[in-house]
Amino acid sequence: MSLILGIDYGGSFIKAGAVECDTGQLVGELASVATPPGASLAGSKLAVQNLAARFPDCVGPVGLAFPSVVRHGVTHTAAHISPEWIDVDAVKWLSEALGRPGYVLNDADAAGLAEIRIGAGQGERGKVMMVTFGTGIGTALFLDGKLWPNTELGHLHVGAEEAEVQASARTRAQQDLDWPTWCARVNTVLLEYHRLLWPDLFIVGGGVSERWEEFQGLITPTLQVVPARLRQSAGVVGAALYAREQSVK
Ligand code: BGC
Repeated sequence: MSLILGIDYGGSFIKAGAVECDTGQLVGELASVATPPGASLAGSKLAVQNLAARFPDCVGPVGLAFPSVVRHGVTHTAAHISPEWIDVDAVKWLSEALGRPGYVLNDADAAGLAEIRIGAGQGERGKVMMVTFGTGIGTALFLDGKLWPNTELGHLHVGAEEAEVQASARTRAQQDLDWPTWCARVNTVLLEYHRLLWPDLFIVGGGVSERWEEFQGLITPTLQVVPARLRQSAGVVGAALYAREQSVK
């Protein structure tokens, strides 16, 4: 059985897990450490090293899902992380930190990849849009199962403000929004995405998707919306699947 380490870098926690690559299944625990203050480069290095040490059976390539535009392994934006991350060769950084080949992609792209391969989007043709609600809003767009990376539509202005400022899970917590108020904002965002891109299916992910049963009745019925099947582990699984795909190229 070949196990690949996937790491998902979030605003509050960095999670990691061993993924069986032929099936995409998480094997064993989903480990996590607190995201270092300011998500600095130095603090992040220690955090990923500590996490990787908890998975001695994963010796091959490592995948990292990261909350930034990631083009050719370089991180270009830093919405909720230290500005030190702008224009960092993150592939080099990760490979040097862990002493083995690292592969890096945007966190929403990673979560979407996992859902498309083995989750709620498996076998879906046409246009599928993953939308993750967490510290920000992440988006990933797939056409016939193929990723169009770095869509960054959490930063689209919907009305007066960016979508993620109005409707992220963090905003829900910070403003203590009840489900109807938050879902009204989510619906406005999803309807705007639909007006512009016409996806056939939306997959809702991020930590809040664990609570889908509590709010699904408030999501606009005119759109096709399903919860992420991998829930909290989608980013970790997607990062590992990406590492595997890239390392055999
Ligand atoms: C970032 C994206 C990220 C999303 C979710 C946004 O603020 O710009 O790169 O995917 O948050 O973490």
